[in-house]
Amino acid sequence: MNPITDDFNLAGSHAPATDAFEQFGATLKGRSLLSMAEITSDEFAAIMTVAAGMELGHKTESPFLKWTYPKSLAMIFEKPSLRTRVTFDIGMRQLGGLTTILGPAEIGLGQRESVPDVAQNLQGWVDCVMARVFDHQVLIDLRDNCDLPIINGLSDFEHPCQAVTDFYTIWEKAGKLDGLTLSYIGDGNNVLHSLALAGALAGVNIHAACPVGYEPDPSVIGAANEIADGRCKIEITDSPNEATVGADVVYTDVWTSMGQEKEQLARIQAFRSFQVNSELMALAKPDAIFMHCLPAHRGDEVTDDVMDGPQSVVFKQAENRLHAQKAIMAMLIGK
Ligand code: CP
Ligand code: NVA
Repeated sequence: MNPITDDFNLAGSHAPATDAFEQFGATLKGRSLLSMAEITSDEFAAIMTVAAGMELGHKTESPFLKWTYPKSLAMIFEKPSLRTRVTFDIGMRQLGGLTTILGPAEIGLGQRESVPDVAQNLQGWVDCVMARVFDHQVLIDLRDNCDLPIINGLSDFEHPCQAVTDFYTIWEKAGKLDGLTLSYIGDGNNVLHSLALAGALAGVNIHAACPVGYEPDPSVIGAANEIADGRCKIEITDSPNEATVGADVVYTDVWTSMGQEKEQLARIQAFRSFQVNSELMALAKPDAIFMHCLPAHRGDEVTDDVMDGPQSVVFKQAENRLHAQKAIMAMLIGK
């Protein structure tokens, strides 16, 4: 079974996930996940299939892993988190592993101690590192200075674990991915970068509407269209209506990301007409789903009636962070 081309239907069987884990576990083992551009379309499909197995096996024994000793995960947080923190922590422990959480004041990444020195210390103690950082370069420096898999738990440039969850959720809720269209309304930020690359890998058209001056990095959109190779289109407009017409998925994120708080007033002005409300949702397909990575600023980028309405899958999407995170960790840490 392949999430990109086949409908979501495990029929209660762990076999597809076990097969995907066996087939792609070897190629992903020991690798980092800093960007969606670092995995192939087949590897992305395999991670989503393993996530489906994790969901099927939730609250029962994991069918994929029999670690000979409890593997361990260090989590570094330079920014706040609810979803990423809980799902990596609980997910690792459900896999039979151990976790430790390091706040910025504790380790002083790059200040109390250099990033390469932190990486080499951690290598002596743990099997994997998940880091949420301001500057994407810190993730690259961690990865380049140790042999551990480094997982991007959000940087200023990408949020790949969110994109894996999001596409897994779309597969579960909207059926096979190939040929769908996701309309993204809002900031050309880390979340959009990862969604654009994920769309390219999965054959999902991404129609993004961003205010002038808040577009995504053109190099990411160029890379996404190169990966897509004509199979789907990654397009940017400044018209929310144009981006939303006929969409299967309508997605938004906060207007002001963590670290941009000083720009908040200017951003509220610039994004005022980029709200997902019932009028905008009416332009999408009647059975379109609404998604948001959360946290949501209700009344800004999304209205209460959309967020709490029948098309919204935001809390299932948040739940799926757990299953997707477990799949990512299982495959990168390996047997
Ligand atoms: N979506 C997301 O990453 O949520 P947190 O910031 O709460 O981890
Ligand atoms: N773009 C947001 C995503 C939060 C999960 C941020 O970086 O703050």
